[in-house]
Amino acid sequence: MKIRVINGPNLNLLGQREPEIYGKDSLEDIKTTLSAIGKKMGAEIDFVQSNHEGEIIDWIQDCRNGFDGLIINPAAYTHSSVALHDALLCFEGLKYEVHISNPHARESFRQTSYVSPAVNGVIAGLGVVGYQVALRTMIEKLSDV
Ligand code: DQA
Repeated sequence: MKIRVINGPNLNLLGQREPEIYGKDSLEDIKTTLSAIGKKMGAEIDFVQSNHEGEIIDWIQDCRNGFDGLIINPAAYTHSSVALHDALLCFEGLKYEVHISNPHARESFRQTSYVSPAVNGVIAGLGVVGYQVALRTMIEKLSDV
């Protein structure tokens, strides 16, 4: 089983960036935790981050080449990118959107997601634990089929 985890812009600064909103864990900490869960539950995890929309679209499209699932925190592109929406529709595997914070409880411009209509599930506001919830749930669902 192969699952790709994609992180969007500014998430490379997790742990340093607005820690009162996003917490103190770094992206590397999240990667380590998810890799351990994947190892234990039998999934290969490909964990990536980019500040560039086109690179993220390339990774989503590449999920068609042998990936079973995709977990994405599109960060600010959530609220702006029709291109991400369209790319996600091209991948038929299981897709979950994750947000560390709860965008619905923040500024009004964060309350629209172009990504949510193109994924199977959304997890928001649980802190970085949301990634773990998404991964465990995805592996369980994929194991069912
Ligand atoms: C975020 C929420 C977005 O609104 C914001 O632009 C981010 C992070 C989150 O994980 O809470 O960069 O996706």
